Amino acid sequence: MGKKFARNFFILGTAICTVVFIWLTIDTHTTIPKRTHTDQLSEEVILGKRVWHKYNCNDCHTILGIGGYYSPDVTKVYFMRGEAWLKAFLKDPESPDPKRRKMVNFHLSEDETTRLITFFKWVDGIDTNQWPPKPIGEGKIAEVESKSEPQVALGKGVFEKYRCDICHKIEGKGGMIGPELTREGSKRDALWLEQHIRDPKSHDPTTVMPPFPQITKGELNALVDYLINLK
Ligand code: HEC
Ligand code: HEC
Repeated sequence: MGKKFARNFFILGTAICTVVFIWLTIDTHTTIPKRTHTDQLSEEVILGKRVWHKYNCNDCHTILGIGGYYSPDVTKVYFMRGEAWLKAFLKDPESPDPKRRKMVNFHLSEDETTRLITFFKWVDGIDTNQWPPKPIGEGKIAEVESKSEPQVALGKGVFEKYRCDICHKIEGKGGMIGPELTREGSKRDALWLEQHIRDPKSHDPTTVMPPFPQITKGELNALVDYLINLK
């Protein structure tokens, strides 16, 4: 390669890359309003974001990667948990599980809670090109199958991990949005329970119980074993 050719090659290459870079940048910017559906950016959503900053929620949580890494990312929390769960959780975030990190109770007002949830809903609707690849922040439960303890004990851990307790009472502890499960084992069989946890809408299309697509097969087995033994 001659010196002149090398120089031209460099100049042309740089020019082409610059043009492509500028074009992609413009393209990204022109699609942002569509991907973030700015038409749905209502006053309530904006007020929700203000509540988010008022309490410095982003000191501990990330949205779209921005914020603190202490606690779960909440970009997709509206989809993962649903409205009823969020409402109950924000009212009383403390988990009964002593091993779990605790979130402070901010004693939010009704309005603040509603606005935050509207904000979460809007954030959930942003087209993030499938980011995060899978919900991040959920502490992984150790390989359920490889443990020697009985599945029933592990199932109790799974119940707490997914915070089913926010909505269901078992032996006096838990919320009241869903039915009490203290005697669930004498009511339903394993297949029914498995189906219900994976896809509650298949049994009742209007239910507020969120689906748990992220639950692993091992976790689900342990959870069902636990529920079946509640008699
Ligand atoms: C000091 C740190 C801290 C701050 C500040 C904080 N959180 Fe949290 N948050 C946590 C921790 C820790 C958890 C996990 C609790 C658990 O595992 O039960 C959590 C969990 C959550 C969850 C449930 C996530 C899930 O899917 O399990 C939501 C929603 C949430 N926080 C919203 C908020 C909002 C809204 C604010 C501001 C008003 C806020 N957080 C401020 C620490 C914090
Ligand atoms: C946001 C609240 C909410 C959360 C979280 C939730 N559920 Fe439910 N669940 C409900 C409601 C409400 C029902 C009542 C029936 C219906 O609407 O489907 C229900 C019904 C059930 C039933 C059927 C009871 C019966 O025999 O009819 C089971 C079993 C159950 N939930 C287990 C779970 C488990 C396990 C988890 C956690 C992985 C969980 N739920 C999380 C709200 C919730």
